[in-house]
Amino acid sequence: MNYSEDLVEEVRMKNDIVDMISGYVKLKKQGSNYIGLCPFHNEKSPSFSVSRQKQMYYCFGCGAGGDVFTFAMEYENFTFPEALEFLAERAGVELPKIEYSKETREKANLKSSLLEINKAAAQYFYVQLKSEHGRAGYTYLRDRRLSDETIRAFGLGYSNKYSDDLYRYLRSKGYSEDLIRQAGLINTDEKHGIYDKFWNRVMFPIMDVNSRVIGFGGRVMGEAKPKYLNSPETPIFDKSRNLYGLSRARSSRKSYFLLCEGYMDVISLHQAGFTNAVASLGTALTAGHASLIKRYVKEVYLTYDSDAAGTKAALRAVPILKSAGISAKVIRMEPYKDPDEFIKNLGAEEFGQRITGAKNGFMFSLEVLEQDYHMDSPEEKTAFFQEAARRLTEFEDELERDNYIEAVAKVYHIKEESLRKMVTKAAVYAGMAKPVERPKTASGKPVKKEDGNLTAQKALLTWMIDDQRLFGTISRYIQPEDFTQPQYRTVAELLYAQYEAGELNPAKIMSHFTEEEEHREAAALFNTRIQRLTTSGEKAQAVKDLLFRVKSNSIDVRMKNLEPTDMAGLQRLMEEKRHLGELEKLHISLE
Ligand code: CTP
Ligand code: MN
Repeated sequence: MNYSEDLVEEVRMKNDIVDMISGYVKLKKQGSNYIGLCPFHNEKSPSFSVSRQKQMYYCFGCGAGGDVFTFAMEYENFTFPEALEFLAERAGVELPKIEYSKETREKANLKSSLLEINKAAAQYFYVQLKSEHGRAGYTYLRDRRLSDETIRAFGLGYSNKYSDDLYRYLRSKGYSEDLIRQAGLINTDEKHGIYDKFWNRVMFPIMDVNSRVIGFGGRVMGEAKPKYLNSPETPIFDKSRNLYGLSRARSSRKSYFLLCEGYMDVISLHQAGFTNAVASLGTALTAGHASLIKRYVKEVYLTYDSDAAGTKAALRAVPILKSAGISAKVIRMEPYKDPDEFIKNLGAEEFGQRITGAKNGFMFSLEVLEQDYHMDSPEEKTAFFQEAARRLTEFEDELERDNYIEAVAKVYHIKEESLRKMVTKAAVYAGMAKPVERPKTASGKPVKKEDGNLTAQKALLTWMIDDQRLFGTISRYIQPEDFTQPQYRTVAELLYAQYEAGELNPAKIMSHFTEEEEHREAAALFNTRIQRLTTSGEKAQAVKDLLFRVKSNSIDVRMKNLEPTDMAGLQRLMEEKRHLGELEKLHISLE
């Protein structure tokens, strides 16, 4: 990374963190900070805090935090140079050309060349659509009731009937055959030589979340096969990590997405005012899609085709969304095939009502299941409820399971108690011994999570150093032995000694450690990301929470390690536990 520090500072200065993050997260002013729902983990009450004064953010729930660059990197999956470029552009700062290593340069060059080629191709297709050669395509889109405004907004285009004009056009712009091939825009065969992949199709440019064209979908005119042809996966086009319409849907400011099957569905919905519609790109929904969605919304309304395939796809999607922490509802489109046809026939208002009447994903799956049983035969009806009960056992959260048992009993007019018994029986049957599934990340690797108790200890130490007024209060409740990690405890002992001696000097503590690993760990203790964040009320609340957590964990740990015969020790711990209650009432003032 060769940009100068000054430049990085300039970019940072010109991108106020509150303004920048407001583009992604709904923030509310609270004291001197702004708070909102953390975009990096699933939560219902806000623990994500942004400080204008410190130009930093921090999540008290998951520990995500940093500055405006960190945010861009975490949220947009940028590398640092990409984040820098993104923020420089956002603030109108011009970046000098810099020297990367050959390999980095080539990789970055390939990606940016492919983006450039795609952009040029999209422009070409758009111009074609509006020209005489594109009449067929334009008429087709207008017949499908798309307005000029919609066509422009989605950058729709047309690949005409010549078999290699795009290729020739791109060559004339100076792109090599090799690059055009890598962009997936041409094919070669022995008989015809080089020819355009797309021809005589209306073209749907596929954009990433930042509105950069990463690929294309092309729909044939008329009934030929295949109906849709899509770009192959390329270094910039990963189908399982992008959603059609996302660049627009992300700023729709709705708390849910409408997830549909096709390009035309997304476009019709947007045109009808449902600008929160997205679609997976000619593939089934994946865990990658789900985690992408979760950055923006916590709820999805599935609006798949009403045929058997669409129903099956919806049934598949519900658990994928659920395991990403997204709740799913299913919108019925009957008597029409898909949202596009629905809107054309019944209009936006009716569609809005379908949204309101959407079925919860689980209830929907039961409704589909029901079709396999003759419900007027007592045996089959029982079998249906047995299967329903089996599915109900899959809710691991007891409260959630109970809620569903209640809902199913109500909808199917059966006694809640009978159903509950069936569920219990089914659970025993399934052998409750089934291993608990750990949450998986999109990549399939288990989530790596730091022990929250250690994080709390670390954060508490940071606060104590950060604001010495807190030291007195905290040290009344927390002693060095309350830090359960040995190194934290050593640091605490040293700090407490310094405090007694009237001179807090964290840097000096570093010299007590010799190993590189210890240095890093100690440095982290003094630089926990909250250090430069938040003030007054919110800060006091955070400290209080930490205090409570560290203390109760300490009691738990010591309780566990207690000799069974140590009655005095037990009594002491019980006493401390009682004091915990007082901690809850503690008022910390930082005014
Ligand atoms: N699709 C595809 N390849 C196909 C058929 C479909 O990639 N051969 C994808 C496209 O993204 C398409 C979506 O699956 O938009 C849904 O397919 P379908 O319901 O058949 O198409 P519609 O969106 O209804 O297409 P249209 O309205 O243009 O007929
Ligand atoms: Mn359709």
